[in-house]
Amino acid sequence: MRTQVLIIGGGPSGLLLAQLLDRKGIDTIVLERKTRSYVLGRIRAGILEQGMVKLMRKAGVSERMDRESYVHDGTVIACGDEQFRIDFTKHTGTPVVVYGQTELTCDLYDAREAADGEIIYEVEHVEINDAKSDRPYVTFQKDGIAQRIDCDYVAGCDGFHGVSRQTIPLTVRKEYEKVYPFGWLGILSETPPVHHELIYSSSERGFALCSMRNDNLSRYYIQCSLSDRPDDWSDQLFWDELKRRIPSDYADKLVTGPSIEKSIAPLRSFVTEPMRWGRLFLCGDAAHIVPPTGAKGLNTAASDIHYLYHGLVQAIHDNNNEGIDRYSERALARVWKAERFSWWMTSLLHRFPEQNAFDLKMQSAELAFLQSNNEAQSALAQNYVGLPY
Ligand code: PHB
Repeated sequence: MRTQVLIIGGGPSGLLLAQLLDRKGIDTIVLERKTRSYVLGRIRAGILEQGMVKLMRKAGVSERMDRESYVHDGTVIACGDEQFRIDFTKHTGTPVVVYGQTELTCDLYDAREAADGEIIYEVEHVEINDAKSDRPYVTFQKDGIAQRIDCDYVAGCDGFHGVSRQTIPLTVRKEYEKVYPFGWLGILSETPPVHHELIYSSSERGFALCSMRNDNLSRYYIQCSLSDRPDDWSDQLFWDELKRRIPSDYADKLVTGPSIEKSIAPLRSFVTEPMRWGRLFLCGDAAHIVPPTGAKGLNTAASDIHYLYHGLVQAIHDNNNEGIDRYSERALARVWKAERFSWWMTSLLHRFPEQNAFDLKMQSAELAFLQSNNEAQSALAQNYVGLPY
C-alpha cells in the first residue's frame, strides 16, 4: 500500500487533517488502534474556539455543528459565594462555541466515510520507519497479518501514549512536564444545565465546573483526589459535593439526576520539542497535554492541524518546504501560550495540598484583581476564545 500522508490516530486531529487534505486532492490513510465506537465513547471537553470552528467549516464538516451548537458570549467565575462574569464578546469581539468533542468526532467520521476515506481500525504494533529519509514507511499488524504502507509524510496524531512521539530519539527530544496533585471527577447527566453559561468555581473544598452539552445534557466536574475511583463517588455524593462548591444561588436551583457517565481524569501539563523529525510531524496530544481548565486540548490540536495542513499543501502542490520546515516552531509558539493559560487557570482555581496560608491569600488576591480589573478580564477573554493563528 502507498499513500501521500499516513495519519496515525483516528481521533479528531487525525480525522480533521485527513478531511482537509482530501479536499485538496491529497490522499491519506488513517490508522487507528481502537474501533470507531471506542473513540466515540471517550468524553472530552465541549468548548470550541473560533479557529476550530473555521477549520470544521473549511473541511466541509460544519453542517450539524452550525445547527446544533450553542454560542457563549461569556463565563462565570465564582469564588465561594461571590461571582463575576467575563464577557468574551465585549473584550474580544468573539464568542466561543459549545459543541461536544464526541459529536465533532462523529461528524468527522461520517464525512470520511462519505468521501470513501480510508481508515484502518484495530491496528497493532505500529512502527514508523525511516522518518529521516525521503521514503518513510509504516508497518503494523491488522488481524495478525503484517502490513506495510509507504508514504511521503507521517502525521503523528496518536495521542500522549502513541508511538509517534516515541519514534523521535531521546537525543533529539526534550520533554517538559508538570503533574498536578489532583484529578477531575466528571459526570454527564440528562438534566438541564444549572446556568446558561459555564461556571468555573473556586471553593474551600476545591474546584468545580458546571458545563453542558445541550438544554438537557449537563457536564459537571469536581476536583478530586488522585487516589479516588469513580465508584467511590455515588451520584448522591457527587451532587452533594458539587453543591457545596458553587455559589448557593446555583446550588439551590441545581437539577440533579442519574449520571450517564462518570470518570476521573488526572491533570497534566506536557510539551515535547521539536514537533517534527524528518518527515514525521506530531500533532495534538502526541506532542502536548494541557490540564482541562480552559478547554484548550482540542483547540490546541486544531492550531497544529492548521499549520501542518498548510505546510503539507505547500510542500505537495507547490514544492515549497517553507511551511513544513517551520511547522514545529510555529506550532510550539502557540502551544506554549495555551500551556501557560491552562496552567494559570488551574493554579488560580484549584486547592493544592501543599498550599499554605500565604499561597491561599495570593490566590484570593489574584481572583480579586481579576474581578475588578478590565485589562485582566480582557487577557483572560483573549486566551479563552483563543489566540490568533
Ligand atoms: C466540558 O464541557 O467538558 C468542559 C468545559 C470547559 C472546560 C473543561 C471541560 O474548561
